[in-house]
Amino acid sequence: MKVEAIPAKQGEHHLHNYEDIAANFDWTEVEKEFSWYESGKVNMAYEAIDRHAESYRKNKVALYYKDQSRNESYTFYEMKRMTNRAANLLKSHSELEKGDRMFIFMPRSPELYFAMFGALKMGLIVGPLFEAFMEGAIYDRLDDSDAKAIITTPELLPRVPFDRLPHLKTVFLVGEEIEENDHTVDFMKHLHGASDKFEIEWLDKEDGLVLHYTSGSTGKPKGVLHAQYAMVQQYQTGKWVLDLQEEDIYWCTADPGWVTGTAYGVFAPWLTGTTTVILGGRFSPDGWYKAIEDFGVTVWYSAPTAFRMLMGAGDALVKEYDLSTLRHVLSVGEPLNPEVVRWGVQVFDKRIHDTWWMTETGAQTICNYPSMAIKPGSMGKPVPGIKVAIVDDQGNELAPNQMGNLAIEKGWPSMMRQIWNNPSKYESYFLNDKWYVSGDSAYMDEEGYFWFQGRVDDVIMTSGERVGPFEVESKLLEHPAVAEAGVIGKPDPVRGEIIKAFVALNAGHEPSEELVQDIQQFVKKGLAAHAAPKEIEFKDKLPKTRSGKIMRRVLKAWELDLPTGDLSTMED
Ligand code: WT7
Repeated sequence: MKVEAIPAKQGEHHLHNYEDIAANFDWTEVEKEFSWYESGKVNMAYEAIDRHAESYRKNKVALYYKDQSRNESYTFYEMKRMTNRAANLLKSHSELEKGDRMFIFMPRSPELYFAMFGALKMGLIVGPLFEAFMEGAIYDRLDDSDAKAIITTPELLPRVPFDRLPHLKTVFLVGEEIEENDHTVDFMKHLHGASDKFEIEWLDKEDGLVLHYTSGSTGKPKGVLHAQYAMVQQYQTGKWVLDLQEEDIYWCTADPGWVTGTAYGVFAPWLTGTTTVILGGRFSPDGWYKAIEDFGVTVWYSAPTAFRMLMGAGDALVKEYDLSTLRHVLSVGEPLNPEVVRWGVQVFDKRIHDTWWMTETGAQTICNYPSMAIKPGSMGKPVPGIKVAIVDDQGNELAPNQMGNLAIEKGWPSMMRQIWNNPSKYESYFLNDKWYVSGDSAYMDEEGYFWFQGRVDDVIMTSGERVGPFEVESKLLEHPAVAEAGVIGKPDPVRGEIIKAFVALNAGHEPSEELVQDIQQFVKKGLAAHAAPKEIEFKDKLPKTRSGKIMRRVLKAWELDLPTGDLSTMED
């Protein structure tokens, strides 16, 4: 395929000459940027907040927070004090100790970040949860990780099945007039009275940082554990990829319940001492453009679905706002369509820089850099110091332009360190003890640019959110009318994919529009709104292997009118 590359604009960039830097880059050089280089004792919260509070950045704004009712800002010095208070509060009202898991389940607010970094100061492992999760999703994650504490709001509390989680000892509630009892603590009541001095818990580089649950094609969601050391790559990509400079105002639109919202919502910008904008509330085209104008955003990191929705809102709307502060725009999460890249150039006069990575990689891995030409539709080139290759199923590297498994050589700094409670699953990601196999298929062209082709497995990416079909199928099967269920991703022009379910009914149930809605509500309430099938098609029977496994491949072929391929394993 011939594409017109969009050249880089001249400017001062941290990564000025990709080929030179990539030729021999040594990650241990980056360790010298941190205060722990000599001591070896680390804490993300110190590097992201306190270090700046003790420097010339003391009175620099760390966080701008805005939603319908609040508009606040906190300097690095203020963040240090608030996170110290939060740490003291968490410590004195619980039995929490270093290494324990604390989950965060609440809408974006400054308190969310006080609590997150307070927990990190204590040496806890933080488990972020997406606000839309319902009881089943919460239970699975807290149960698997033996979580000891959760911070949430009175509105979300009913979704936390406290009585079924024997390890869960403390619930911190963020709200008004909280009734306290032996396991419920009023966070706001104690926050302002807590001491603003706190002795940080110093950790080893390999100690836990965050635990993100993410979906695969089989089984329940897996707990991906990242170590403190991930900060090395998060910091360096903050410079090379986000190109963060001292005077930047940076906005990452991702929710902190997902890895983008931790690694690039707060870690990367704060590790580099950059001012970060957090916008609460829902997506709206006007609200987003207004935020760029009001804060004077210079670096903006978002996702293809959002860009497509902005595109759909029309170019006239763009003209109503002053977006001239924008210097650098980036995207992650799903394939970034070439027409979106061209739209960006047209309406913002900015190239949208695609970046590829995943929960398991812990930080950006393949990227388009501001100093490099962009080929619209390509994910870009590997981050210097990381070896990415296309390999076959035996782990042999393939030549340019051959499609295969997108794989990363083991040992990059922010690589996941564990699948929680599941060492054999962890091992299964690595081929020949050398390649981490991503589950994506791709090819590399002669110039070293990587091109995404699809998922090798059945994982669904809908509006940039990763949904495991098995989780949805399991929930569907709990519905009294459902006998069998198979779930696939169906291509969609805005959302990338939508979730489509094929369902066979139990005797005594007939297909109807009411039943469709009832089943959709059932999944929404039990799992999460984004996991509910947008389409449900009833079938008498679903294609299964002789061992009883639903053949999603066949469902997909039906849906897309493709040949069904080898059916030798299918039951009669
Ligand atoms: C999967 C990982 C960490 C970022 C958010 C998603 C897909 C991610 C791209 C891209 C095409 C992409 C892949 C990947 N993906 N970025 N630039 N182009 N696909 O993290 O939830 O762990 O999902 O998202 O399929 O495997 P995630």
